[in-house]
Amino acid sequence: DWTMSGYAKEAIASLREKIGGKKVLCALSGGVDSSVAAVLIHKAVGKQLTCIFVDHGLLRKNEGDEVEEIFRRQYDINLIRVNAQDRFLNKLAGVTEPEMKRKIIGEEFIRVFEDEAKKIGSVDFLVQGTIYPDVVESGAGDAAVIKSHHNVGALPDVVDFKEIIEPLRSLFKDEVRKLGLELGIPDHLVWRQPFPGPGLAVRIIGDITKEKVSILQDADLIFREEIAKAGLDRDIHQYFAVLTNMRSVGVMGDGRTYDYTLALRGVTTQDFMTADWARIPYDVLEKVSSRIINEVKSINRIVYDITSKPPATIEWE
Ligand code: XMP
Repeated sequence: DWTMSGYAKEAIASLREKIGGKKVLCALSGGVDSSVAAVLIHKAVGKQLTCIFVDHGLLRKNEGDEVEEIFRRQYDINLIRVNAQDRFLNKLAGVTEPEMKRKIIGEEFIRVFEDEAKKIGSVDFLVQGTIYPDVVESGAGDAAVIKSHHNVGALPDVVDFKEIIEPLRSLFKDEVRKLGLELGIPDHLVWRQPFPGPGLAVRIIGDITKEKVSILQDADLIFREEIAKAGLDRDIHQYFAVLTNMRSVGVMGDGRTYDYTLALRGVTTQDFMTADWARIPYDVLEKVSSRIINEVKSINRIVYDITSKPPATIEWE
């Protein structure tokens, strides 16, 4: 009968046969799909695989380091991490329009990847973490593509390669997760909530600065920690903080403050096309709020988003 360990063994054997002694390149995002695809290929051909991880500096707090830790230390995968925060922030300076942010990040991502891929030269295979729902979803007209998704779609145009391999093409998301666990990928990565390609850029309303990224990272980490402590991290399908571009008056000790309003967002959903706002218990919200106010500078007011999708989207931009 069918088991994930049997599936993994077979997939590794057939990848090994297909790849032979050739070179493979993979764009690692730290997301579930590209991670499982990379580890599977690594199990098959080891050092013939090189992964490029473009860190655009708009990831959640510590996320870049965690990705590096898992892939370099745990698996000893050939990993090139490109720390490109300055490059992205320069391009984004002063940009406030959401679709323009996505476009800039998508394009810059391709440029950074291209620069690295050029150094490696020609490869035989390019890995894509395509899963079954990506294959069947034709796309056109979907609510999900109303916001442009520029993740890695254009990579094949800038990499010199002979063939694409998509080792997860026949799997559903829950099967990809099981396979990831089977391959030893840590729970927290396998169960990672969806995170948009443009990252925190679409969770900072208005223009993006290094300082705002850091404020948001700190606040978002506290929210995630408290949700995990409350045991809610698998029940709420996506939850994050948004740095609104609004400031308001507050009072702190003897002084008056004029600081940012932070919004918390949590949703439950089947398919991310529609979603309901999550009924997070008040005591959890209270803990999150007081911790953020006390631990993160420049935030003096916190609101919880109680709109469903539609009419709101999950992200604020
Ligand atoms: P919305 O905000 O459209 O989000 O309700 C639906 C799901 O898509 C994710 N999302 C993105 N993912 N690139 C991505 O890879 C993007 O530009 C992007 N915009 C939204 C969002 O996090 C949610 O899971």
